[in-house]
Amino acid sequence: MSIGRSKYLQAAAVCPPGLEQLCAAELKSLGLRPKPAGPGLVEFEANVRQLYAANVWLRTAGRIVVRLATFRATDFVHLQDHAAKIDWARWIEPGRAPRFRISTSQSKLYHTKAIAQRLHQVSLPPSIGEPEQLFIVRISRNTVTISVDASGEALHHRPWRIDLGDAPLRPTMAAACLQAVGWDGNRPLIDPFCGSGTFAVEAALMALGLPAGGEREFAFHTWPSFDTGAWASVAGSVQAAHEAASSDQAARPEIVASDRDPAMVAATEANAARAEVAHLITAEERVVSHLRGRSGSGLIITNPPYGKRLGSAKLTRLYGRLGAVARERLPEFDLAVLTAHRKLALEADGAAEPVLAFRHGGLGVKLYRRAARPPGSEPSELGQDEVVAAGGDQPEAAVG
Ligand SMILES: C[S@@+](CC[C@H](N)C(=O)[O-])C[C@H]1O[C@@H](n2cnc3c(N)ncnc32)[C@H](O)[C@@H]1O
Repeated sequence: MSIGRSKYLQAAAVCPPGLEQLCAAELKSLGLRPKPAGPGLVEFEANVRQLYAANVWLRTAGRIVVRLATFRATDFVHLQDHAAKIDWARWIEPGRAPRFRISTSQSKLYHTKAIAQRLHQVSLPPSIGEPEQLFIVRISRNTVTISVDASGEALHHRPWRIDLGDAPLRPTMAAACLQAVGWDGNRPLIDPFCGSGTFAVEAALMALGLPAGGEREFAFHTWPSFDTGAWASVAGSVQAAHEAASSDQAARPEIVASDRDPAMVAATEANAARAEVAHLITAEERVVSHLRGRSGSGLIITNPPYGKRLGSAKLTRLYGRLGAVARERLPEFDLAVLTAHRKLALEADGAAEPVLAFRHGGLGVKLYRRAARPPGSEPSELGQDEVVAAGGDQPEAAVG
């Protein structure tokens, strides 16, 4: 079936597996009716304005695609017959070449180079230096789905994110963690292992209601079918968001990002400045033991170091210290810890429960959360003397 020129496009958001429900919730908030359609995939129907808006406003998706055709093919003749019916000129401007990203499973057509060659024959030749438009071709059990990429550079490449540490969290995942614990921008937020500041910057952009990708361009800007009126309407909503963010009524949560490594503090400051949210973020060089106390409710959300293997006493102590400091000095703050090891999360807080699971850096990770305890319910367990006697924190190299 070739998908024709209906007012509605069959679109899909591609997100890290595990984030589908959050991605679907974001699409719903844009007035769409999403359907999770397998690991890392959420389908939705959209008009062009909604398609453009999804690219601008989704924080958990890595890419948005538009379905062009779905058909059965067990040989090249059928593949070419169906692919030839696609109106390629609608999606590739003159001077641009198609690039086919092909995956196949349990199908008679399996030779990806040969498939690409046949698709070039019925569309346009491969690039000999000109810019490319990505098409995603999935062949599963002899059913071929051809989609055009609407995003261009992946949406998790945030333009502000240039200074990075050793184990930076992907911003789509940081946004998902913030959404999973209900971050609404109305309370103070602390990340005591901030690295390059991913949680802090994503949280600030969410609090201000600003798009995650700034004022970047998307692949759809180059399509011959690009609708300037629809884009002007989306750009208008972005402009309005910027005006609201700089008004007196804008949310101004205090966000504190700290790290023991001064280079990471500088990276956080540079990233926050590029994202134009530096005014919300205080970046500090500080070991977790020396976290400042404060009263009132808030959120600690953090991604401490973790390794492939558990067995490190230093890591165990580090998570224990985080939990003790949080309970002692920030008793009314919720605690959310992203780690690969349940035992470490429980070391931070025995009552922590997993609220989100996905893969990061080749490991399965979970976000563990425990809500703040009612004031006065927790006995004091950590004195300053003990912190000093412990000589600060010496965790293993962070690979998380
Ligand atoms: C996994 S990384 C955090 C990555 C961060 N979420 C990002 O997106 O860039 C862990 C961070 O914890 C910091 N760290 C390790 N031990 C620490 C300690 N005792 N106190 C404060 N920070 C520490 C490291 O310098 C590193 O930047």
